[in-house]
Amino acid sequence: MAGPYTLPKLPYAYDALEPSISKEIMELHHSKHHQAYVTNLNKALEASAAAQAEGRLHDSAAQLSAIRFNGGGHINHSLFWENLTPASSPDARPEAAAPQLLAAIGATWGSLEKFQAAFGAALLGIQGSGWGWLVREAATGQLRIVTLADQEAVVVGDTPILGVDMWEHAYYLLYKNDKATYIKNIWQVINWKAGETRFRGPREDAFKVLKTQADI
Ligand SMILES: [Fe+2]
Repeated sequence: MAGPYTLPKLPYAYDALEPSISKEIMELHHSKHHQAYVTNLNKALEASAAAQAEGRLHDSAAQLSAIRFNGGGHINHSLFWENLTPASSPDARPEAAAPQLLAAIGATWGSLEKFQAAFGAALLGIQGSGWGWLVREAATGQLRIVTLADQEAVVVGDTPILGVDMWEHAYYLLYKNDKATYIKNIWQVINWKAGETRFRGPREDAFKVLKTQADI
């Protein structure tokens, strides 16, 4: 059985994404929110496996929604931390860090600016909590923008390239209800190198951050 899962360390300090994302948001988001998904995922997996081992399928099956929700939360946040980086990092410069991804974005949307406008509109269109992702479609290899509710994760076929958390806990302490400015400012701290690596690599490599070891 996989797990128990552990909270991955951030590849930067809690204050490293300021002023786009505040230290307070990052600390709570990582050490409390993400940790809760990991803790509750492990509990649900353990309860499900124990019930199954004792022949209680009904109790095992009752854990599936908790596994899906908290597992999605762990997957989404692990990918999200990796696709952010300090604005001063060379990885935050799309032209230098993501030439192939940028070319594909240009071929799909016309320009980076047009893609950002389309992605921003999709993010603003999410009702309630959810995520927006740039993905590489499994069937065609084409880029596409998808939005997913709650903690649904990009786990069926498509490859997650860049994700943005649109839960209130991701922005509210700094931006209040101004989601548009959160979206505008997060482009300063997008890790284009991570996006390029996911875009070029096999799908499974995008999920490597989810290995059970903490220090990755
Ligand atoms: Fe979140």
